[in-house]
Amino acid sequence: MQPAPVVTGWRCSACGTRVAISEIFSWRCPNSSDLDRHHVLELENSIAPLRSNGDTNPYVGFQRYLAWDAFAATLGLDFDARTKIIRELDDAVSVVAGTGFRTTPFARHDALSDELGFSQQGGVWIKDETHNVAGSQKARHLFSELLHLIAVEKVGRAPWKNPNERPALAIASCGNAAIAASTLARAVNWPIQVFVPQSADEATLKILSSLQANAVLCQRIATDPAGDPCVFRFREAIAAGSIPFGVQGPENAWCLDGGRTIGWEMAVVAENLPGSLMSRMFVQAGGGAFVACAAAGFFAGATKPKVHAVQTQGCAPLARAFKIAQSSGGARNAGDRWTQCMWPWESTPVSLADGILDDETYDWIGACNAMADSDGYPVVATEAQVHESYALAHRVTNIDVSPTGAAGLAGLLAIRQEIADDERVIVIFSGVRRQ
Ligand SMILES: Cc1ncc(COP(=O)(O)O)c(C=O)c1O
Ligand SMILES: [Zn+2]
Repeated sequence: MQPAPVVTGWRCSACGTRVAISEIFSWRCPNSSDLDRHHVLELENSIAPLRSNGDTNPYVGFQRYLAWDAFAATLGLDFDARTKIIRELDDAVSVVAGTGFRTTPFARHDALSDELGFSQQGGVWIKDETHNVAGSQKARHLFSELLHLIAVEKVGRAPWKNPNERPALAIASCGNAAIAASTLARAVNWPIQVFVPQSADEATLKILSSLQANAVLCQRIATDPAGDPCVFRFREAIAAGSIPFGVQGPENAWCLDGGRTIGWEMAVVAENLPGSLMSRMFVQAGGGAFVACAAAGFFAGATKPKVHAVQTQGCAPLARAFKIAQSSGGARNAGDRWTQCMWPWESTPVSLADGILDDETYDWIGACNAMADSDGYPVVATEAQVHESYALAHRVTNIDVSPTGAAGLAGLLAIRQEIADDERVIVIFSGVRRQ
């Protein structure tokens, strides 16, 4: 007997519109427009029990929980054909990235646990993403978008007739997401435009150029409203026919599918640990897709650690939104209060953790739901704690993490006194240091 379908469809968190899982290119809610981007599709699914089939590639190990798998089945591809697409694409990625997608390490870090005063029963578990494809968690989100595109092409449902006519992919990012997107695009020779700020650093631009991405420098223009000019130029490219290939749910909901692999990997390990449960998970939040997906993935398992989205004092629109949502009807399902809760951070964001300076938390609804569902709450770390977490990570671990990648640890430092010594807590070292 075939197992029951795990993913049943999409539903907009803001307006409630449903979109069938069989729909191709279902990037955005049908009511999302150039004038109203306050929509985001979320997955409707039920995963129980969560089990990996043991494959070291998480997209194969957890294949039947992927929305992509349900989608590709509706294209007429059988299970083995779908596995084959994942494997072939993974091989292509590994040619460019030097590695394919493999379950990343997740273990108690004894020295860090001691350093922070945890007892033997408790401690700090580090999920290490620094050796993931393209050096951060970002490629996990993008791989499900790529799987979608390639599957549609494969069955002849793409509007273009041959790969030479593919519209360009597009992303707005200056860092890890841009590098991850360009890596995946290069793997399949798909042209990509990367909208980067004027201030983009040389090292990143060099990597993008080596991946043959077309980096477009964006400066704020007088007619722009508040918000990120890279995002505005990106949206103009989408309106002109490019394909959204980024890590913001409202621009392409398919990033919210593969992003869950990180949570699934942790949940499976956590469930098999003897002793007490994981009590908290600290996840640094920029655009918010990461925390939304890490939590959604973890919650598919048997337990729900308190989720703490971590931002810096220099830019904390999610903490602001959570507070407003709480006092205006609750932090859960606040999507119909978007304008009231989420707007661009007014001052120019600055922090050593420069990868989480998105002036809007695009996936704030998923992030708030994760915190509300788990009795968690946002943590705003001081800049001193951001510096301290980066220094601490390099002093006591041998993981070459970036300041952004260590920023979840800054959140742990910020509320360490609220945490019992025998609690087990998770931090995710999400990105490698570049220079
Ligand atoms: C290393 C790293 N960690 C975490 C994040 C935050 O992810 P998100 O923007 O999905 O919140 C980013 C985003 O750029 C990042 O580069
Ligand atoms: Zn909608």
